[in-house]
Amino acid sequence: MSLILASLLAGAALPQAAEPWRDTTRPAAQRAAALVHAMTRDEKLRYVHGLFPPLTKPAPADMIPSAGYVPGVPRLGIPTLRESDASLGVANQVEQRKGDVATALPSSLATAATFDPALAYAGGAMIGAEARAKTFNVLLAGGVDLTRDAWGGRDFEYVGEDPLLAGVMAGASIKGVQSNHIVSTVKHFALNAQETDRMLVDARLDRPALEDSDLRAFHIAIDDGQPGSVMCGYNLVNGDWDCENAYLLTTVLRDQWKYPGFVMSDWGGVHSTEKAALAGLDQESGQELDKAIYFGKPLADAVAAGRVPEARLDQMVTRILTGVIASGLYDHPTPTTAQPIDYDAHADVAQKVAEQGMVLLKNADGALPLAKTAKRIVLIGGHADVGVLSGGGSSQVRSVGGVPVEIPLKNGPAASFARITWHNSSPLKAIQALTLGAEVTYVSGDDPAAAAAAARRADVAIVFATQWRTEAEDIQTLALPDDQDALIDAVAAANPHSVVVLETGGPALMPWLDKVPAVIEAWYPGQRGGEALARLLFGDIDFAGRLPMTFPASEAQLPRPHPVTPTGGAGPDAASNAGSGDSSALAPFPVEYREGADVGYRWYAAKGETPLFPFGYGLTYTHFSYSGVHFAGGATPSATVTVRNDGDRAGVALPQLYAATGSETPRLVGWSRVELAPDTAKTVTVTLDPRAIAAWRNGAWALADGAYRLTLGTDASHAIGAATVTLSQHSTKKAS
Ligand code: BGC
Repeated sequence: MSLILASLLAGAALPQAAEPWRDTTRPAAQRAAALVHAMTRDEKLRYVHGLFPPLTKPAPADMIPSAGYVPGVPRLGIPTLRESDASLGVANQVEQRKGDVATALPSSLATAATFDPALAYAGGAMIGAEARAKTFNVLLAGGVDLTRDAWGGRDFEYVGEDPLLAGVMAGASIKGVQSNHIVSTVKHFALNAQETDRMLVDARLDRPALEDSDLRAFHIAIDDGQPGSVMCGYNLVNGDWDCENAYLLTTVLRDQWKYPGFVMSDWGGVHSTEKAALAGLDQESGQELDKAIYFGKPLADAVAAGRVPEARLDQMVTRILTGVIASGLYDHPTPTTAQPIDYDAHADVAQKVAEQGMVLLKNADGALPLAKTAKRIVLIGGHADVGVLSGGGSSQVRSVGGVPVEIPLKNGPAASFARITWHNSSPLKAIQALTLGAEVTYVSGDDPAAAAAAARRADVAIVFATQWRTEAEDIQTLALPDDQDALIDAVAAANPHSVVVLETGGPALMPWLDKVPAVIEAWYPGQRGGEALARLLFGDIDFAGRLPMTFPASEAQLPRPHPVTPTGGAGPDAASNAGSGDSSALAPFPVEYREGADVGYRWYAAKGETPLFPFGYGLTYTHFSYSGVHFAGGATPSATVTVRNDGDRAGVALPQLYAATGSETPRLVGWSRVELAPDTAKTVTVTLDPRAIAAWRNGAWALADGAYRLTLGTDASHAIGAATVTLSQHSTKKAS
């Protein structure tokens, strides 16, 4: 077929050059269509299914044993896709090139806690640069599933419970990744909210509520981040598996949102050929992990027999190539050999995120910051002598500096690919470096009596409490494991000046809260977590993080107190992990998300429950006062307030705007991150982002006219002021 004819068939204008797909002035989709028309059917069929390198034999010479590999078409400049996990850093060196390392960011929850899209972008740009330098060109980053359950195994990989915050932060991170001319994904589309039996969970939620919550987060992330790819999840939604769900993949993603890139499956998430292809799946990933290679010979046969139209195959490849071109990858091929990486500069990014993301939960009687002149400080537990905890699963990064502690899992669905791992970032050393000659020691915490004795001898005792979470498993209780509550009790009884540092993947119960003066949520703080924590403890910098998810007072407050199992109660996992179980032998089972769109803090508001710490909450060492608050309606509702830093140190205030219409519970519609030097003030206007509350109609966010109850707060539970305004004029925001 001539190129001219090919372009005409693709609906493109006459080509200016012999190879119109190289014309960078043309839209990506048009260039992609031109490429597709130059490809043979075999070439197209090869590009719609990817290999899982660890199981590929024999391996092509240029294959790195990472998450995925899709051979390219060199004669047309179509790149081989080299895929690596994920959002916290380049994770796929772990199994592969022994001794290779990468920079580990804090957990995505920590990034979310910064409420700072610029930092999310910086983190994404950093890991994207490392991916490219390690010759990867598709980073499987961009997790944005809303935290519906506080016990979720992957909550730490996601960006919290609020659609606007999650969408904005994930979108910024994706944009950062793709600034390196590589593809990022947004995942796991959609409602992949539970890890227990994650391949069998049939997530049930009515469509209006789904579109108002989880899909809203995805839409905002796609709007802001423009990811080249969307990864469909393992679970089912309302009876259809994510990766063959026509409502999700076609009605929502294409018909409503006009998403131009490609849908790749999660690894082991494909269950059919025709149904998946016709529903909107464009590429089968990690094919060896599926029960069959559905998009290999079966798809070729289906196309040949007309059961899947040839035009649909063309569309699949066009969408893949649109993502490849739009991200810049086609025009900026990745290097074929590993390039040098400035790990020091990258570690600074990880540290900045950790510093800005840790949350000060309690600070009675000025217990913090610690005085640098303290004589004796004892650190207790959590391996704080050598490192900080990291979460487990495909996102796990083998970080610069090595692994001071590693505990293999003996059983459970994650045992084949996750291990309990610490990053080499010693709080002990970091604290020693900041004190003026104090005696800083460490005891393990294994023996509460010995820990209490050490605490009694010290001026300050700092207990490091850990709660490990991993992909493929949920935690069964929010109570801290391994008798750590008893350890904290013993230390608190021995020394009234005891500080608890939590290294957790989400909330933990705190029965000892009244007994300790200070508590810090450090999350999984990444490879510079120890250094970040030390600076915060001594007040070299102030706390700026705010909770991106509600911390419950008890499990009874949760919509589902524990993970749901096929029998409806607690029990062993059946088949949770990619490659670890053949889910076809087991039947999907429903998980009813009866809270609807009232996710997280909205659920507490609906139920009248008071959590332990609300969404958006976080203390600072400095003090802010708020005055002159007033609200405006019109086309763009907003709140204006003057924020004054009354304290004696620089800090970050975070006024948050919540809105509700009718009888709905309030939701976050905007925030402002106000950095203020001591004794200065700033007047800021927080405007309502229509994407947080409007319906998506005919390609635009359509805000409903009428009354909006606006609340400006310091968190979801504490108001600075409130008013009802009228949206008097129809207002829209165009999708980009
Ligand atoms: C995870 C994905 C990941 C993929 C490839 C799956 O088990 O759910 O998030 O990107 O593996 O490693």
